[in-house]
Amino acid sequence: MTPKTPSESRTTMTDMVLPSETNALQNLFGGELLARMDRAASIAAGRHSRRITVTASVNHVAFNLAVPLGSVVTVEAAVSRAYTTSMEVYIDVWIEDRYNGKRTKANEAIYTFVAVDETGKPTEVPPLQPETALEKERFAGALRRKQLSLVLAGKMKPNEATELKALFIES
Ligand SMILES: CC(C)(COP(=O)(O)OP(=O)(O)OC[C@H]1O[C@@H](n2cnc3c(N)ncnc32)[C@H](O)[C@@H]1OP(=O)(O)O)[C@@H](O)C(=O)NCCC(=O)NCCS
Repeated sequence: MTPKTPSESRTTMTDMVLPSETNALQNLFGGELLARMDRAASIAAGRHSRRITVTASVNHVAFNLAVPLGSVVTVEAAVSRAYTTSMEVYIDVWIEDRYNGKRTKANEAIYTFVAVDETGKPTEVPPLQPETALEKERFAGALRRKQLSLVLAGKMKPNEATELKALFIES
Protein backbone atom coordinates (compact mmCIF):
# COMPACT_ATOMS: atom_id res chain seq x y z
CA MET A 1 0.00 0.00 0.00
CA THR A 2 1.18 3.55 -0.73
CA PRO A 3 2.21 5.43 2.43
CA LYS A 4 0.18 8.46 3.49
CA THR A 5 1.26 11.55 5.42
CA PRO A 6 -0.37 12.86 8.62
CA SER A 7 -1.63 15.90 6.70
CA GLU A 8 -3.78 13.58 4.55
CA SER A 9 -5.74 12.53 7.65
CA ARG A 10 -5.62 15.82 9.59
CA THR A 11 -9.11 16.70 10.81
CA THR A 12 -10.06 20.01 12.43
CA MET A 13 -13.37 20.47 14.25
CA THR A 14 -14.30 23.83 15.81
CA ASP A 15 -17.33 24.25 18.06
CA MET A 16 -18.37 26.23 21.12
CA VAL A 17 -19.19 25.12 24.67
CA LEU A 18 -22.92 25.28 25.47
CA PRO A 19 -24.50 25.23 28.98
CA SER A 20 -25.77 21.64 28.59
CA GLU A 21 -22.17 20.47 28.02
CA THR A 22 -20.69 21.86 31.26
CA ASN A 23 -20.08 20.60 34.82
CA ALA A 24 -20.95 22.30 38.13
CA LEU A 25 -18.03 24.72 37.67
CA GLN A 26 -19.38 25.81 34.27
CA ASN A 27 -16.47 24.15 32.48
CA LEU A 28 -16.70 21.66 29.62
CA PHE A 29 -17.67 18.19 30.96
CA GLY A 30 -14.81 15.70 30.48
CA GLY A 31 -17.01 13.12 28.76
CA GLU A 32 -18.18 15.72 26.24
CA LEU A 33 -14.57 16.52 25.34
CA LEU A 34 -13.78 12.78 25.04
CA ALA A 35 -16.68 12.43 22.60
CA ARG A 36 -15.53 15.40 20.51
CA MET A 37 -12.00 13.98 20.39
CA ASP A 38 -13.32 10.51 19.47
CA ARG A 39 -15.34 11.97 16.58
CA ALA A 40 -12.39 13.96 15.17
CA ALA A 41 -10.02 11.00 15.64
CA SER A 42 -12.49 8.63 13.97
CA ILE A 43 -12.68 10.90 10.92
CA ALA A 44 -8.85 11.12 10.81
CA ALA A 45 -8.52 7.31 11.00
CA GLY A 46 -11.17 6.96 8.28
CA ARG A 47 -9.33 9.44 6.04
CA HIS A 48 -6.07 7.53 6.45
CA SER A 49 -7.54 4.06 5.90
CA ARG A 50 -10.63 4.81 3.77
CA ARG A 51 -12.30 2.03 5.78
CA ILE A 52 -14.81 1.74 8.64
CA THR A 53 -12.84 2.37 11.84
CA VAL A 54 -13.58 1.56 15.48
CA THR A 55 -12.01 2.93 18.67
CA ALA A 56 -9.84 0.14 20.10
CA SER A 57 -8.46 2.08 23.06
CA VAL A 58 -7.96 5.50 24.60
CA ASN A 59 -4.27 5.42 25.44
CA HIS A 60 -3.77 8.79 27.04
CA VAL A 61 -5.83 11.86 27.94
CA ALA A 62 -4.50 14.96 29.68
CA PHE A 63 -7.09 17.51 30.84
CA ASN A 64 -4.50 20.24 31.45
CA LEU A 65 -6.74 23.31 31.25
CA ALA A 66 -10.43 23.73 32.08
CA VAL A 67 -12.50 24.86 29.10
CA PRO A 68 -15.05 27.48 30.25
CA LEU A 69 -18.64 27.87 29.07
CA GLY A 70 -18.80 29.82 25.80
CA SER A 71 -15.25 28.91 24.74
CA VAL A 72 -14.48 28.31 21.11
CA VAL A 73 -12.78 24.90 21.08
CA THR A 74 -10.81 23.40 18.22
CA VAL A 75 -10.02 19.69 18.16
CA GLU A 76 -7.28 18.66 15.72
CA ALA A 77 -6.63 14.98 15.03
CA ALA A 78 -4.18 13.21 12.71
CA VAL A 79 -2.84 9.69 12.38
CA SER A 80 0.58 9.59 14.07
CA ARG A 81 1.51 5.99 13.19
CA ALA A 82 -0.08 3.11 11.32
CA TYR A 83 0.60 -0.59 11.82
CA THR A 84 -1.02 -3.58 10.10
CA THR A 85 -4.68 -2.87 10.89
CA SER A 86 -4.43 -0.30 13.69
CA MET A 87 -3.62 3.41 13.75
CA GLU A 88 -2.53 5.70 16.54
CA VAL A 89 -4.32 9.07 16.33
CA TYR A 90 -2.91 12.08 18.15
CA ILE A 91 -5.37 14.77 19.19
CA ASP A 92 -4.61 18.37 20.21
CA VAL A 93 -7.28 20.61 21.74
CA TRP A 94 -7.06 24.40 21.52
CA ILE A 95 -9.10 27.23 23.04
CA GLU A 96 -9.40 30.51 21.15
CA ASP A 97 -9.33 33.83 23.00
CA ARG A 98 -12.60 35.63 22.23
CA TYR A 99 -10.96 39.07 21.91
CA ASN A 100 -7.57 38.56 20.26
CA GLY A 101 -8.04 35.17 18.59
CA LYS A 102 -4.88 33.75 20.21
CA ARG A 103 -4.98 29.95 20.55
CA THR A 104 -3.94 28.17 23.77
CA LYS A 105 -3.35 24.42 23.94
CA ALA A 106 -5.82 23.06 26.50
CA ASN A 107 -5.65 19.28 26.25
CA GLU A 108 -4.26 16.37 24.28
CA ALA A 109 -5.10 12.74 23.84
CA ILE A 110 -3.99 9.62 22.01
CA TYR A 111 -6.49 7.09 20.69
CA THR A 112 -6.04 3.79 18.85
CA PHE A 113 -8.38 2.94 15.98
CA VAL A 114 -8.68 -0.30 14.02
CA ALA A 115 -9.88 -0.46 10.41
CA VAL A 116 -12.50 -3.15 9.92
CA ASP A 117 -14.52 -4.61 7.05
CA GLU A 118 -18.33 -4.79 6.94
CA THR A 119 -18.26 -7.83 9.25
CA GLY A 120 -16.08 -6.07 11.86
CA LYS A 121 -12.93 -8.03 10.92
CA PRO A 122 -9.66 -6.02 11.15
CA THR A 123 -8.35 -5.06 7.71
CA GLU A 124 -5.03 -3.64 6.45
CA VAL A 125 -4.21 0.08 6.43
CA PRO A 126 -1.54 2.08 4.53
CA PRO A 127 1.73 2.87 6.36
CA LEU A 128 2.31 6.40 7.66
CA GLN A 129 5.14 8.63 6.42
CA PRO A 130 5.78 11.45 8.94
CA GLU A 131 7.12 14.72 7.49
CA THR A 132 7.58 17.44 10.12
CA ALA A 133 9.80 17.25 13.23
CA LEU A 134 6.71 16.93 15.49
CA GLU A 135 5.20 14.19 13.29
CA LYS A 136 8.52 12.29 13.40
CA GLU A 137 8.70 12.64 17.20
CA ARG A 138 5.15 11.31 17.63
CA PHE A 139 5.82 8.47 15.17
CA ALA A 140 8.98 7.46 17.08
CA GLY A 141 7.17 7.23 20.44
CA ALA A 142 4.13 5.42 19.11
CA LEU A 143 5.41 1.83 19.25
CA ARG A 144 6.20 2.24 22.95
CA ARG A 145 2.65 3.51 23.56
CA LYS A 146 1.13 0.64 21.54
CA GLN A 147 3.06 -1.93 23.56
CA LEU A 148 2.01 -0.28 26.84
CA SER A 149 -1.63 -0.27 25.73
CA LEU A 150 -1.46 -3.95 24.74
CA VAL A 151 0.24 -4.94 28.01
CA LEU A 152 -2.38 -3.06 30.06
CA ALA A 153 -5.17 -4.69 28.02
CA GLY A 154 -3.65 -8.12 28.73
CA LYS A 155 -2.99 -8.65 25.01
CA MET A 156 0.82 -8.68 25.23
CA LYS A 157 3.15 -10.24 27.79
CA PRO A 158 5.33 -7.61 29.53
CA ASN A 159 8.49 -9.53 28.59
CA GLU A 160 7.56 -9.19 24.88
CA ALA A 161 7.32 -5.38 25.12
CA THR A 162 10.78 -4.64 23.75
CA GLU A 163 10.28 -0.86 23.43
CA LEU A 164 9.09 -0.57 27.04
CA LYS A 165 11.96 -2.69 28.35
CA ALA A 166 14.43 -0.49 26.45
CA LEU A 167 13.18 2.51 28.46
CA PHE A 168 14.35 0.95 31.71
CA ILE A 169 17.43 -1.03 30.69
CA GLU A 170 20.68 0.88 30.18
CA SER A 171 22.58 -0.16 27.06
C1 LIG B 1 -10.82 -3.26 18.17
C2 LIG B 1 -11.13 -4.65 17.65
C3 LIG B 1 -11.56 -4.58 16.18
C4 LIG B 1 -9.85 -5.47 17.77
O1 LIG B 1 -10.19 -6.78 17.45
P1 LIG B 1 -9.21 -8.00 17.83
O2 LIG B 1 -9.91 -9.25 17.57
O3 LIG B 1 -8.60 -7.75 19.18
O4 LIG B 1 -8.16 -7.87 16.71
P2 LIG B 1 -6.62 -8.08 16.75
O5 LIG B 1 -6.15 -8.77 18.01
O6 LIG B 1 -6.27 -8.67 15.43
O7 LIG B 1 -6.11 -6.58 16.82
C5 LIG B 1 -6.27 -5.73 15.71
C6 LIG B 1 -5.29 -4.59 15.88
O8 LIG B 1 -5.69 -3.80 16.98
C7 LIG B 1 -4.61 -3.65 17.88
N1 LIG B 1 -5.16 -3.54 19.21
C8 LIG B 1 -6.12 -4.30 19.77
N2 LIG B 1 -6.36 -3.89 21.02
C9 LIG B 1 -5.53 -2.85 21.25
C10 LIG B 1 -5.29 -2.02 22.37
N3 LIG B 1 -5.96 -2.16 23.51
N4 LIG B 1 -4.34 -1.05 22.25
C11 LIG B 1 -3.66 -0.88 21.11
N5 LIG B 1 -3.85 -1.65 20.01
C12 LIG B 1 -4.76 -2.61 20.09
C13 LIG B 1 -3.76 -4.91 17.68
O9 LIG B 1 -2.44 -4.71 18.13
C14 LIG B 1 -3.86 -5.05 16.18
O10 LIG B 1 -3.01 -4.08 15.58
P3 LIG B 1 -2.16 -4.36 14.23
O11 LIG B 1 -2.97 -5.25 13.32
O12 LIG B 1 -1.99 -3.01 13.62
O13 LIG B 1 -0.87 -4.95 14.68
C15 LIG B 1 -12.26 -5.37 18.50
O14 LIG B 1 -11.78 -5.57 19.82
C16 LIG B 1 -13.54 -4.55 18.55
O15 LIG B 1 -14.30 -4.56 17.60
N6 LIG B 1 -13.76 -3.86 19.66
C17 LIG B 1 -14.94 -2.99 19.81
C18 LIG B 1 -14.66 -1.64 19.15
C19 LIG B 1 -15.76 -0.65 19.47
O16 LIG B 1 -16.92 -1.00 19.42
N7 LIG B 1 -15.35 0.57 19.78
C20 LIG B 1 -16.26 1.57 20.21
C21 LIG B 1 -16.33 1.52 21.69
S1 LIG B 1 -17.82 2.12 22.31
